[in-house]
Amino acid sequence: MNKAGAGTAKEAAAVGQVKAELEDAGKAAGRAVAVAAAPALSPLSETLWREKAAVEFLGDVSARLAWRDLTVTVALGSGDTQTVLEALTGYAEPGTITALMGPSGSGKSTLLDALAGRLAANAFLSGTILLNGRKANLSFGAAAYVTQDDNLIGTLTVRETISYSARLRLPDNMPMDEKRALVEGTIVEMGLQDCADTVIGNWHLRGVSGGEKRRVSIALEILMRPRLLFLDEPTSGLDSASAFFVTQTLRGLARDGRTVIASIHQPSSEVFELFDRLYLLSGGKTVYFGQASEACEFFAQAGFPCPPLRNPSDHFLRCINRDFDKVKATLKGSMKMRFERSDDPLEHITTSDAIRRLFSYYQHSQHYLTARQKVDEMARVKGTVLDAGGSQASFGMQAVTLTKRSFVNMSRDFGYYWLRLVIYIVVTVCIGSIYLNVGTKYNSILARGACASFIFGFVTFMSIGGFPSFVEDMKVFQRERLNGHYGVLAFVISNTLSAMPFLILITFLSGTLCYFMVRLHPGFMHYLFFVLCLYASVTVVESLMMAIASIIPNFLMGIIIGAGIQGIFMLVSGYFRLPHDIPKPFWRYPMSYISFHYWALQGQYQNDLVGLVFDNQDEELPKIPGEYILENVFQIDVSRSKWLDLSVLFGMIVIYRLLFFAMIKVSEDVTPWVRGYIARRRVQHRRREAELAMVRTPSLRGYVVDAAPELPADRP
Ligand SMILES: Nc1ncnc2c1ncn2[C@@H]1O[C@H](COP(=O)(O)OP(=O)(O)OP(=O)(O)O)[C@@H](O)[C@H]1O
Ligand SMILES: [Mg+2]
Repeated sequence: MNKAGAGTAKEAAAVGQVKAELEDAGKAAGRAVAVAAAPALSPLSETLWREKAAVEFLGDVSARLAWRDLTVTVALGSGDTQTVLEALTGYAEPGTITALMGPSGSGKSTLLDALAGRLAANAFLSGTILLNGRKANLSFGAAAYVTQDDNLIGTLTVRETISYSARLRLPDNMPMDEKRALVEGTIVEMGLQDCADTVIGNWHLRGVSGGEKRRVSIALEILMRPRLLFLDEPTSGLDSASAFFVTQTLRGLARDGRTVIASIHQPSSEVFELFDRLYLLSGGKTVYFGQASEACEFFAQAGFPCPPLRNPSDHFLRCINRDFDKVKATLKGSMKMRFERSDDPLEHITTSDAIRRLFSYYQHSQHYLTARQKVDEMARVKGTVLDAGGSQASFGMQAVTLTKRSFVNMSRDFGYYWLRLVIYIVVTVCIGSIYLNVGTKYNSILARGACASFIFGFVTFMSIGGFPSFVEDMKVFQRERLNGHYGVLAFVISNTLSAMPFLILITFLSGTLCYFMVRLHPGFMHYLFFVLCLYASVTVVESLMMAIASIIPNFLMGIIIGAGIQGIFMLVSGYFRLPHDIPKPFWRYPMSYISFHYWALQGQYQNDLVGLVFDNQDEELPKIPGEYILENVFQIDVSRSKWLDLSVLFGMIVIYRLLFFAMIKVSEDVTPWVRGYIARRRVQHRRREAELAMVRTPSLRGYVVDAAPELPADRP
C-alpha cells in the first residue's frame, strides 16, 4: 500500500506539474486547458473526451470537494429533532477513491445525500460544502450519484439499458460506432458480458440478479466518466470477486482524475486495499478520516490494535458498532465464548467506551489537524466553476431516444397496455351484447343514454389500471433527472408520444366493436366522432393519472386519489343528475365544466341522437325526434356543435399534460421548500413548548427564586 501510495503521490505531482504548465500555456493563449491534454485518461475516457476536446477548451475539470463542520439535523414527525451528522470535516480529491464506512444507521447515506445536495425535505444542513473552493449545487447532473436502490426499466436488456442511456447523454455528433464501443467497454468493465442480453426484470418477468442490477446502475453512471461520483453501497449484493472488480473499476475511474466517494459495508481485505482514503462514521460522528492504509496504525495507537488474522475493516467496524455489545452478551452465554480470542482489544471494554475513546483520540490526532488544514487550504483556492455536467445530447436527441425507449418498454410490458387492451375488448363485447342493436324504440332512448354514460364513465375509468406502470416510469425518471440525464420537457413529450399509438389502438379497436355491435347512429362521421371522443377521454384520464403520479409516486394512494377525482367528475357529467338540476354553485359552475365526462357525454349524445327519430310510448302518438329528446330529456344545449365538445376534450389533454409538466417542476422546487418550512415550524413550536414547560415547572421556579438572593453582591 505504501508503495502504491508513494506511486500515487508521484503520479499526482506529475499530473499537477503538467496541469500547471498547461494552465500557463492556456493563459498565455487567453484560454484554459484542453481536456485531452490531461494525462492518464483510460482508453474509454479518451474516446469520450476526444470529441469534446476537439471543439471546446475547458479549464481544469477535476473536482475538489471539501466539507467543514457539516451537521445534519432531521425533524421527526413529533416535532423533535435528531442530529444525524455532527460536525463532519473532510475532503475528497481528484484521483482518489474515498470509502465511507460505519455501522448501519451511522449516517453514510445521509452524508452522501448532503454532499450531493439531495437531503430529504425534513433534514437541515449547516456547515460548508465547497466544490473547487466555491459553494455549488451538486444536484441535476453536477455530480453523478448511484443511490442505494436500483430503479431501472424492467423490460429492457442490460445492453439496451446502457445504450439508451448513452444515446441520451453522449454528444449527437459522436459516431454511433464510438457510442457502441463505449457501451460495450462499460459492459465489460462492469463484468456484465454474460447477462448483457438478459432483461432487467420486473414483477412478472424474472431478470438479472440483484448484484447484476447493482452493476447496471453503476455502469449507467460511470458511462459518462463523471468528474465527481457518489456511490451508496455499490458492492452490496455482490460476491467478493465481483465486489473487487467493481471497486477496481471505480479506482480506475478515480485514477483518470475523477473524484469518487463510496459508502461500503464490510469490504473484504482485497477491496479495502483499493481505497485511498477512509471516512469512518459512528452515530454520525467522525471516528477516523485519513489514508486508508494508516487506519490500522491509528486504531493501534488508540489502544485497539487489529488482531492478527482479522480483516482490518472488520476490526474497525467491530470497534465502532454498538450492536457488538449485544453480540458479545449473547455469545457469552453460549459455548462459543470458549473460543474467543484472547488478543481481542475489545474483550475488556464495551463498544460504547471504545467509540468514546476513539472519538476523543481522533479529535486530538494529527489526522484531524491535517484534514482541517487541508480543507482550509482547499477553501482558499478558488478553482474552475464546473459546468452543470449531465447530458451532452441535444434536446431533440433526448426526446427521440426517450420516446423510443418508452415505446419499447410499453410494447414489452404486458401490464402497461396489452392487458388493458384485452380488458377493454372484453368489456366492450359485454356492452355490445347487452345493448345489441339498440334500435329506435321508445325504451332505446334511455338505453342509448345509459350506454354512452357507461362507456365514457366507467370504460375510461379503467385507464386507471396503468397507474402502477406510471409510478415505475416516474421512479426511473426521478433517478435520471436528478443525475441530469435529461430535462422534464423531453420526458413529458416522450411519454405523450410513446403512449399515443397504444391508446389509439385500444380505443379504436374497442370503440369500433362497441359502435357496430350496439349500432349507434350510422354514418362514418358519427363513427369517427365516437372513437375520437373515446380516444380523447381515455387520454385525458391517462394524463390526469400521470399528473397524480408526479406528485404521489405511490401506486395505492395514487389509485385512490385518481378514482376519487374521477368519481366526482362522473357525478357531474349530466347523466346521474341532469345538467339543469345539478346545484349551481360549485357543482355546476365550475365542477361540471371541469369534468371531461360532461363534455364527452354532451358531444356523444348529440352525435348519437341528432337526426334519429324514436317511437313514442304509444304507437298512435307521433314519433319523437332526437333533437327534442336532447333538449327536453337530456337537457343538452343543441346550439353548441358536438365538435366543439370534442375540441374541449382535446384541449383538456393539452392542459393536463401541461399540468403534468408543472407538477414535476412544483414537486422539484416548491414541495421540498414547503415540507422544509412545515418541519421547521414544527421544530420551533416544539422548542417553544419545551421552554414554556421549563418556566412553568414549580420546583424550577422555586429554585430560581431561592437561588437569587444567594448570588454574591459583586455579581451582576
Ligand atoms: N430524513 C430523515 N428523517 C428521519 N430520520 C432520518 C432521515 N435521514 C436519516 N435519518 C436517520 O438518520 C440515521 C442515519 O441514516 P442513514 O440512512 O444515513 O444511515 P446509513 O449509515 O446509510 O445506514 P445503512 O448502512 O443501513 O444504509 C438513521 O437512524 C435514520 O433513521
Ligand atoms: Mg445507507
